[in-house]
Amino acid sequence: MSAEIRKAAEILRAGGLVAFPTETVYGLGADAASQKAVARLYAVKRRPSEHPVIVHFSSPDQAFAWGREVPPVAKKLADKFWPGPLTLILKRSERAKDFVTGGQDTVGLRVPSHPVAQRLLKEFGGAIAAPSANRFGLVSPTTAAHVREDLGKDVDLVLEGGPSDVGIESTILDLSGAAPVLLRPGHISREDLQKILGIEVSEKAIASPRHSGGLERHYAPRTPARLVPAFGLDKAITELKAKVAVLAFSRPDERVDHWLRMPREPHAYAQRLYAALRELDTAGCERILVEAPPDSPEWAAVTDRLRRACGPA
Ligand code: TXA
Ligand code: MG
Repeated sequence: MSAEIRKAAEILRAGGLVAFPTETVYGLGADAASQKAVARLYAVKRRPSEHPVIVHFSSPDQAFAWGREVPPVAKKLADKFWPGPLTLILKRSERAKDFVTGGQDTVGLRVPSHPVAQRLLKEFGGAIAAPSANRFGLVSPTTAAHVREDLGKDVDLVLEGGPSDVGIESTILDLSGAAPVLLRPGHISREDLQKILGIEVSEKAIASPRHSGGLERHYAPRTPARLVPAFGLDKAITELKAKVAVLAFSRPDERVDHWLRMPREPHAYAQRLYAALRELDTAGCERILVEAPPDSPEWAAVTDRLRRACGPA
């Protein structure tokens, strides 16, 4: 692994792209200080250039050097949750250029905990810009194999790190304004953040054009998918005259060929979610039906991703 990590750091220094595991999903990394490298990253991602990208660091001190004003609450959250699946949006310092922030006055900072990500960041020494390692708008990768399927030869190296532990993208908290705003729910919940901050964290309406995770249809399989309440699943299967694949808590229905049964615990569900959507997406069905999770705070992050995977109802 050491030789592999050294090679990865060299590729980054030369302006190349390295996909690497994080505890949330796999990232597609480029030198965050190099305009050319980041331009290639956007091209491979097929991502519009006004969408900002998260910048990754090995330590909170390094991360905060990219912020202009680092409020005490940011340090408090970093102490508690970094390294880990939390991204903080701060006003940017001069280190964060327009080409990583999409021209905004803020920057997204993250210190991942995955040991391979940490080793890569330390070996490289600088900041790594990394969106999820999939094409724009599609389901994020949670294994190295997913990355290879999605990006093939467009990525110079894929570091292996096993299946991602969390399975969905980091929680994003915007600390650049007067009050903290949750931009993307994740494994670290709104309630977890409020407990540490001692104040209310509001949520931003989902369809903000400024961050791509906020688009209405995102993290989406190619097969049209629909979220249905548990009580409506049987009826939906009966009514659909198409060949369907189902993601559900309940036991398989014999009329359905591709039925994936999901755990009733939100973290276990999140861990398996993207691999499950990929599997159903390639099952050769015309429709995917997803049984909606319970309407409670611990399911917020999973429900958010499912809503985006299914698009506007
Ligand atoms: O878990 C994660 O965060 C993964 C891993 C690889 O670290 N990364 C990830 O990146 O999900 P990406 O680019 O797929 O999603 C980043 C989200 C996007 O919605 C982006 O627009 C938003 O973060 N974002 C980044 N910087 C921002 C900023 N300054 N203001 C608002 N949103 C920002
Ligand atoms: Mg993404």
